[in-house]
Amino acid sequence: MVKKYMAPPKIFPKFEGLEHLTSAVIICSERFSIDYMNPSAEIMLEISHDQACGQVMSLFFEEFDLFKHAALSAKKSQSAFRENEVFIRSKQNKTLCVTFTVSWLGNSDYYLIEMIQMDQHLRIAKEERMFIQQQANADLLRNLAHEIRNPLGGLRGAAQLLEKELASKNLKEYTEIIIAEADRLQNLMSKLLTPHQLPSYDTTNIHEVIERVRGLVVSEFGSEIEFVRDYDISLPEFVGDREKLIQALLNICRNAMQALLKQSDTENPSLKVVTRSERQIVFNKKKHSAAIRIDIVDNGPGVPEPIKDTIFYPLVSGNDEGTGLGLSLAQNLISLHQGMISLHSEPGRTVFSIILPINNGLIINKEVAQ
Ligand SMILES: Nc1ncnc2c1ncn2[C@@H]1O[C@H](COP(=O)(O)OP(=O)(O)OP(=O)(O)O)[C@@H](O)[C@H]1O
Ligand SMILES: [Mg+2]
Repeated sequence: MVKKYMAPPKIFPKFEGLEHLTSAVIICSERFSIDYMNPSAEIMLEISHDQACGQVMSLFFEEFDLFKHAALSAKKSQSAFRENEVFIRSKQNKTLCVTFTVSWLGNSDYYLIEMIQMDQHLRIAKEERMFIQQQANADLLRNLAHEIRNPLGGLRGAAQLLEKELASKNLKEYTEIIIAEADRLQNLMSKLLTPHQLPSYDTTNIHEVIERVRGLVVSEFGSEIEFVRDYDISLPEFVGDREKLIQALLNICRNAMQALLKQSDTENPSLKVVTRSERQIVFNKKKHSAAIRIDIVDNGPGVPEPIKDTIFYPLVSGNDEGTGLGLSLAQNLISLHQGMISLHSEPGRTVFSIILPINNGLIINKEVAQ
């Protein structure tokens, strides 16, 4: 918090420190007209710094009197005044629940307002829990898959030898079952171990990845379901494992297609992929200045309520034929890129959002891995 404050110029310059904060910061005059807004406030309130400057704070506060009371109390007591669970509205009329703190900036006749979205607290806590759980699951499954895979090879080999020795054709039916089931299990184990195979990082264009996924989805499911593309083509390239990203996105798109096909009465069934840039976001206890967001949206029946909270856990499935590994695998593959997947689902609209930080610290190793 700024303690001693010099008298500001009429329009505030951009402050290095405030520009990097993830909480929204506004500086307004004694008459509550806005003089400065940091990028996090621009994103939260869906308005640019230049548009906001000169506007009165009542633009955002549904209960403006409450805000005025908080500000005047801060001025009177010469200390920060805090209010929890206050509803504000963005420029686009979106209602947000925030905790805000108002401080009177000494003798400069300005107020400094800090705002943190309430659901952001909850979201960060939930993400942290999910991340820990996911790591534990991944370790458990990897160890288990290794333990199962080794004897499986022996089992299959022995069944093959036995098959050669068997005189009766009828008995071969049994060894064939052993071999087929061993192969099925082997496949499952390979799926579980996939995220642990050495990644091959190279400069990656997210739209090339999505276009490849689109090709695969259309060839698997036909063009009966519309595949809508809404790309921000200005998104930068980043370092990533192209094949692993294709696998992750394919698993999510496949699920959406399966859900759409299952509910045959959906009007104009469609799968939409939206790409956008994100700024100043926090997850997994890290702050990222720039990231790519990919929303995979379908208008199908929505994720079944009983599995909504555990959908990213391995072996959780709502399909009779599903193994329940698709999303857990996708989550692990996106984690390799320091990213994360979240879900918002209701009947008629399901959105899987993938966030991929641009500066993810990964190093190109393509030559090494090949
Ligand atoms: N877009 C969606 N709409 C509705 N339900 C979904 C959607 N995506 C996932 N689900 C539900 O989540 C479950 C888990 O998905 P996941 O991909 O992890 O496993 P699966 O598809 O059942 O099996 P696998 O992908 O391993 O073959 C699905 O079975 C389905 O019930
Ligand atoms: Mg699946």
